Amino acid sequence: MLSMTSDLIFFRGTVRYASVHAHLGRIGSRRDDLESLAYTLVFLLRGRLPWQGYQGENKGFLVCKKKMCTSPESLCSFCPQPFKEFVEYVVNLKFDEEPNYAKCISLFDSIVGPNPDIRPINTDGAQKLIHQVGQKRGRISLEGETDEQPKKKIRMGMPATQWISVYNARRPMKQRYHYNVADSRLVQHIDKGNEDGLFISCISSCANLWALIMDAGTGFSSQVYELSPHFLHKEWIMDQWDRNYYITALAGANNGSSLVVMSKGTLYTQQSYKVSDTFPFKWINKKWRDGFYVTSMATAGNKWAIVMSRNAGFSEQVVELDFLYPSEGVHKRWDSGYRITAVAATWDQTALILSVPRRKPTDETQETLRTSAFPSQHVKEKWSKNLYLASVCYGRTVS
Ligand SMILES: *[C@@H]1O[C@H](CO)[C@@H](O)[C@H](O)[C@H]1NC(C)=O
Repeated sequence: MLSMTSDLIFFRGTVRYASVHAHLGRIGSRRDDLESLAYTLVFLLRGRLPWQGYQGENKGFLVCKKKMCTSPESLCSFCPQPFKEFVEYVVNLKFDEEPNYAKCISLFDSIVGPNPDIRPINTDGAQKLIHQVGQKRGRISLEGETDEQPKKKIRMGMPATQWISVYNARRPMKQRYHYNVADSRLVQHIDKGNEDGLFISCISSCANLWALIMDAGTGFSSQVYELSPHFLHKEWIMDQWDRNYYITALAGANNGSSLVVMSKGTLYTQQSYKVSDTFPFKWINKKWRDGFYVTSMATAGNKWAIVMSRNAGFSEQVVELDFLYPSEGVHKRWDSGYRITAVAATWDQTALILSVPRRKPTDETQETLRTSAFPSQHVKEKWSKNLYLASVCYGRTVS
């Protein structure tokens, strides 16, 4: 449960040479070793790296951000050409991709000259490691792949913001959505929904306007909400806690106002929240140890609000925090029984909470979409396949 974040908190290795994936708390693979080697070589050659000099609590984040937006060309602008090619090759390796060591070595032939006495590289150890982590791969072949061009996955460029929407398979139910809702129109939508037997299941904000999902499948018996100019309004939340309401959805607008929805009829027994300028990994880690799980999350500008509850119905939980939508991580987690249970994004980062439910759902299907406009047409198509909106957020997803 703690594996995803322990690397981030108890960061092992040197920040200066760490791979981007190591910064993001991913499980290390040989790709990461090669990326560190590339940074080390460039450092030895040039005497410094572009991400040196950051200080303070946010250092790791700033270094990681700089690494992600430094192109191989600019990193290696004063290095011989093979270094640039090496950096390009290693930063584009996939998690379980077999590094082509022979190719890496041959890149440097032009500057060190081919050495006929060079010993063949023994990759037996590496191969054992692969089998231990359960990857099914064929035998390592150093021949035959040498002509393959490295895949181009561009890390730089203008950030783009999108809607991320998450759909779960459910028995047919009534669901309704509203988007681009101004503050003044919230009441009428919510009142109408309540009249029709719907409660708010999730909310989000884009450009200081609200997106609102209401449905008949929440299991809540009663619901209250507050629109507040604060992120978040502590007194109101504490009053509702006293009345046995728990936070079940929240959203923050860019201008710092928030919409908090609290419901009766959840299984939660205790709840706690934190508002923070950086993603509060340490706090989450501590709460996990106390039996709390993240149940809602929102951002306002670059601020995060995380809600954690006891008796949340999960047996395990991880956080995927990335500078872009972490599809590689999500697919790996889906394969091992996790489902996305909360999403939030700032202009810089996207956070996904993935949890293993205590009670396995009869249909585990979960799908995600990233769209530049609110996915109204897609939602309707999903309904026809009994897939219902479960989480939605707006923020940075690609770079
Ligand atoms: C945030 O923006 C909305 C829409 O422009 C406006 O109605 C609201 O008063 C603003 N809130 C704050 C706290 O500035």
